[in-house]
Amino acid sequence: MTPELMAEGAARLAAYREKQGASGDRAAGFGRPLRIGEPDFGNGVALYVEDVSVSFDGFKALNRLNLTIDVGELRCIIGPNGAGKTTMMDVITGKTAPDEGRVFFGSTIDLLQLREPQIAQIGVGRKFQKPTVYEPLTVVENLELACKADRRVRAALFAKLSGAQRDRLDEVLALIHLKDEGHRAAGLLSHGQKQWLEIGMLLMQDPKLLLLDEPVAGMTDEETERTAELFLSLEGQHSLVVVEHDMKFVDQLTEGRKTVTVLHEGRVLAEGKLADVQANVQVIEVYLGR
Ligand SMILES: Nc1ncnc2c1ncn2[C@@H]1O[C@H](COP(=O)(O)OP(=O)(O)O)[C@@H](O)[C@H]1O
Ligand SMILES: [Mg+2]
Repeated sequence: MTPELMAEGAARLAAYREKQGASGDRAAGFGRPLRIGEPDFGNGVALYVEDVSVSFDGFKALNRLNLTIDVGELRCIIGPNGAGKTTMMDVITGKTAPDEGRVFFGSTIDLLQLREPQIAQIGVGRKFQKPTVYEPLTVVENLELACKADRRVRAALFAKLSGAQRDRLDEVLALIHLKDEGHRAAGLLSHGQKQWLEIGMLLMQDPKLLLLDEPVAGMTDEETERTAELFLSLEGQHSLVVVEHDMKFVDQLTEGRKTVTVLHEGRVLAEGKLADVQANVQVIEVYLGR
């Protein structure tokens, strides 16, 4: 890599960290061992959300939201625009503090007591709608950066990966269908491939829970189908919460049997198999009413 590219990569990384809220004293928390307890998933629950409300100037974006996601579960969440889906992810990841309610990761970790970087570090990965990969760096370099404990750019770029991290990197490259693109600059990838790379960067941290907000927006049909295959291959190893509008994609993910949650006006309107919630009169009204 040339010094110019390195400097550009460093600047982008700094901007990215800034955007993620990891600046100032918050950044100090990165890379250090957590002093909070370890999560406990012994009861089979990965995420527990109870009666969570969030208001913006009196408007309730979330209104006593309840949700339980099991360990290894793949849950799709649908709902019209403004239903509160993104706000829900903001609360889980520590970006927005709720007015009331409880949010637990496993049975022991109260997420409302933790700040955003700590929540990421403890095993909650979030994929935003827009991919935020470091474009001048190669695919492999992006993945390497993502798994370094020391997140300072210089140290991260020069540190050697451990054998286990190397193996994980190869595994992730295959999972995200980018084995043949490992040494290409990320900026040259298609939109869909960039999305996969970002998912790969999350996977390098081996998150227990992955939150994915409209992951196939802007993808081609073929990329969408491959993304569904990727998520299905992650099910069981990770819990996944997928917010999506594309019903064909949701249908592929749920395989006719998994639970879908319908959000409306900040709360759960219906929950069940996709075919059942799509036949639900209240759900139909909510969608047609827009
Ligand atoms: N920071 C904010 N300030 C004010 N209103 C907000 C803010 N974030 C979201 N909202 C409002 O909360 C509601 C839920 O938004 P959002 O969670 O983005 O819905 P969804 O992701 O389901 O489309 C919307 O009416 C939105 O305008
Ligand atoms: Mg949204």
